[in-house]
Amino acid sequence: MKPCNLLVLVTIASSLALVACELAKPTDGEKAEDLLIFTVGTDETDGLKRLKRSAEQFNVKLIVAGLGEKWNGGDTRYEAGGGQKIRILRDALEPYKDRSGLLVMFVDAYDVILNADAKEMIERFHENFENNRVVFSSEGFCWPDKTLAAKYPLVKFGKRYLNSGLFMGYAPEIYKILTVRKIQDSDDDQLYYTQIYLDDKMRTDLKMTLDSMARIFQNLNGAEEDVEVEFDDSGKALAHNVAYNTHPVVIHGNGASKRYLDYLGNYLGNNWNSKTGCVACNEHKLNVDALSNGGQLPLVTLAIFISRPIPFLTEFFAHIARLDYPADRLHLYLHNNETHAEKEVNEFIAASAYESTNFVQRSSEITDRQAKEGAIDYCIAQNCDYLFYVDGDAHLSNPNVLKLLISLNRPFVAPILSIPAKLFSNFWGALSPTGFYARSDDYVQIVQGERVGQWNSPFVGGAYLISKENLAQFRGAYMYNTLFDADMSLCQFARDNGLFMLVDNQNYYGNLVAADDFGDEVQRGRLYPEMWEIFENRQLWEARYLHPEYKQVLVEGAEIEQPCPDVYDFPLMSERFCAEMIGEMEHFGKWSNGKNSDERLAGGYENVPTRDIHMNQIGFERQWLYMLDEFVRPVQEKIFVGYFHSPVEANMMFVVRYKPEEQASLRPHHDASTYSIDVSLNRKDIDYEGGGVRFIRYNCTLPCDKLGWSMIFPGRLTHMHEGLPTTRGTRYIAVSFLNP
Ligand SMILES: *[C@@H]1O[C@H](CO)[C@@H](O)[C@H](O)[C@H]1NC(C)=O
Ligand SMILES: *[C@@H]1O[C@H](CO)[C@@H](O)[C@H](O)[C@H]1NC(C)=O
Repeated sequence: MKPCNLLVLVTIASSLALVACELAKPTDGEKAEDLLIFTVGTDETDGLKRLKRSAEQFNVKLIVAGLGEKWNGGDTRYEAGGGQKIRILRDALEPYKDRSGLLVMFVDAYDVILNADAKEMIERFHENFENNRVVFSSEGFCWPDKTLAAKYPLVKFGKRYLNSGLFMGYAPEIYKILTVRKIQDSDDDQLYYTQIYLDDKMRTDLKMTLDSMARIFQNLNGAEEDVEVEFDDSGKALAHNVAYNTHPVVIHGNGASKRYLDYLGNYLGNNWNSKTGCVACNEHKLNVDALSNGGQLPLVTLAIFISRPIPFLTEFFAHIARLDYPADRLHLYLHNNETHAEKEVNEFIAASAYESTNFVQRSSEITDRQAKEGAIDYCIAQNCDYLFYVDGDAHLSNPNVLKLLISLNRPFVAPILSIPAKLFSNFWGALSPTGFYARSDDYVQIVQGERVGQWNSPFVGGAYLISKENLAQFRGAYMYNTLFDADMSLCQFARDNGLFMLVDNQNYYGNLVAADDFGDEVQRGRLYPEMWEIFENRQLWEARYLHPEYKQVLVEGAEIEQPCPDVYDFPLMSERFCAEMIGEMEHFGKWSNGKNSDERLAGGYENVPTRDIHMNQIGFERQWLYMLDEFVRPVQEKIFVGYFHSPVEANMMFVVRYKPEEQASLRPHHDASTYSIDVSLNRKDIDYEGGGVRFIRYNCTLPCDKLGWSMIFPGRLTHMHEGLPTTRGTRYIAVSFLNP
C-alpha cells in the first residue's frame, strides 16, 4: 500500500478534509467520504424498494432519477435496450459534472443491493483502483454484441467483459462518458458503454478499467456458484466471492440471476444478521389489535379452494372456523371441485356466517384457474383490503394466523407451512432452470425453524395474503402460463413482474397436509379414504382415529384393566374409526360363508370359522399392521414384560360379524397367535344385545362392551375362549392374531 492511501484512510477516520495525494485526492472542497449513488428507475418496484432500503441501512446517499417517467427502453430482460437510462442519468448528473473530487456510482434500480457504507466503498476504490478514474463492473458474458469479445483487453485473472449495471468514478469523467454521443431511449446502454471502453484512446484518457475480481462490484449472472453468504463477527451478512476470495459490496442480479439475488437479498443489505436474526422483519409492522380496538379490522376475502383430492378436510374447516377474525369482516369465496369433499364443505357452509359468501360446489363450467381469478375479482368487487388465499391442504392451526399476517404489512406474504417431521413445505428456496423446485442452501434451516425471518421466495402455494395495493396487478396471473398449474403460473407472473413473494416463519402458523397420494385412495372408491392415511399424515390420523384416552395407557405407572387373568382391556381406536371400519367392511360386503373351507387361507381350511372379512381384502393390511406395531406392541410390552417381537407379525387380521340370523357365537378355541387383540367396533344394547367372550379355564367372562376398546390376551394354551351369542342386532369386532 502506498503511503498516500494510508493518508486517505487516516483522513476519513478523523473526518479531516483534503489530503494532498497525487492519485486519488479529493479536490474542490470535496470531503473524502463523499459518494453519491445514482440509480434510474421509472417504477417503484419491490426491487427498487429493496435497493433503497439497503442504502438507508448503510447511510448511503442514493439518488433515484426517472421515477414516474414512462419507460421506453424496452424489456432489457429479453432484449437489448436501456438507452433511456443513460439520458436520465446524464440529466441527473449534470449539476455535479464539474466536481472533480466527487465520486459517483451508478447502479441499476431493480436488481441491486448495497452491502457497505460510503466510507468502505470509497476505500475499496482507492485501494484497488488508485490509477483509475472510472471503474465498471465485469461479467463473464460479452453482451449484447458477442463479436466485440476479441477487442476486449486481456485480463490476467477474473472477468473480462463490461457490465453497465454497476460503475463508479469521478463525476467529470462519468459525465463525459454520458455525453460522448447521442443515444436513443431504445438503444442499448451496455453497448454504448462498451464501445467507449473498447476505444483505446477514450479508455486511456478517462482512466477506465474493469473490476474483474469483484472487489467492489459483483454481477451474479454466470457467477452464482462463486458467491455465497458469509457472516462476519458482528453477524453482518457479507457476499463472499469464493473464486477470487473477495467480498464485493454492490451486488447485481443481472440477466438470469434475479432469483439468486433474491436469495442473497434475504441476508445482504442488513436484512438478516446471524447474531440478531431478522432485521427487516418488523420494519413495516402494524398493530392489528390497535386497529380492531380503534375501529374496524381490514376487510378480507377468504378464498378457499379444493381443486384436487385432499384428506382431512373436517380438520381443515375446523381451523378456518376457529380463525380469530370477525365474520363480518370476512367475505368467503369457496370453490370445491371434489365429490368426496361435498359433505364437509356443505357442513362448513351451513355453519358459517360471513359478510358474504360466493360458493361453488363442483363446476365443470369453469377451470381451476378461472375460479382463482374469480377470487381476485370478487375481492376487488367487495372493495377488500386483502385477499387471503387458502388451499384445502393448508391447516391453519394458529387461530391468529390472519391477524399475524396482516400485522406484517407486506404486499404479498405467506405463512410457512410444512408437513410435520418432513421437509416438504409450501415454498421453494430456489428455482430450477426449467421453473420447478430447487433447494436453496438455507431451505432446511428455514423449514426447521433454525433460521427465522421473512424470506423472498420464488414460489409459494397453500396460503398467502395479497394486499389491496398489489391485487389489481395480479389480475390474469393464474392464466399467465397455462403450461404450469395455477399456483406456479401466479408465482411466475409475480417473479416476471418484480413482485416479491415473502414467506414468514416468525410464528408457528400451522401445517401442510400430504395430499399427493390421496387421489389414489379416493379413486379406489374408499368411503373413508383418510383411514388409509396413517403413513402420509400420521399426526392427523392419530388425532382422528386413535382413542382419545389411548396415550394415557402408556403413561408410566398407569394401571391397565385386567378383568380376567392375563386378559387386559384398553382404549385403542376412536369411535370414528370404529364406525368407518364397519362402513368400509359393509361397503366391501364379501363376508365369508362361515364354512371350514376357506380359500383365503394358505391351507384352505379354517378350524373355527367366523363370518368375516380380512383386512387385506379391503387393502388395509399394511396400514393395520403398522397400527399394531406402533400402538399395540407398546401396550403388549408394558403388560407382558420381557417379550419383544419387533416389528410385529400377523397374518390373521379381520373384522368379524355376529348376528343371530347368520352366526351368533363361536365355539371354544385357541387362537393361532402368541397374543391376540379383539377391538369392539360397535355399541352393546344399542347396536346389538348379547355378545362377550368367556375364557373357559378361568370361567371368566368379559362383556367387551366399550366402543373402541381392545382386549389383549395370550392366544394359546391357557386362554381357550368362546364368543358368546349375539342375541339381537349385529355385533362387529376387529380381531388380530399377533406373532403366530
Ligand atoms: C372441476 O373438475 C372438472 C373435471 O374434473 C374440470 O373440467 C374443471 O375444470 C374443474 N373446475 C375447477 C373449478 O377446478
Ligand atoms: C362360572 O361362572 C358362572 C357365573 O360367573 C357361574 O354361574 C358358574 O357356576 C361358573 N361355572 C363353573 C364351572 O364354575
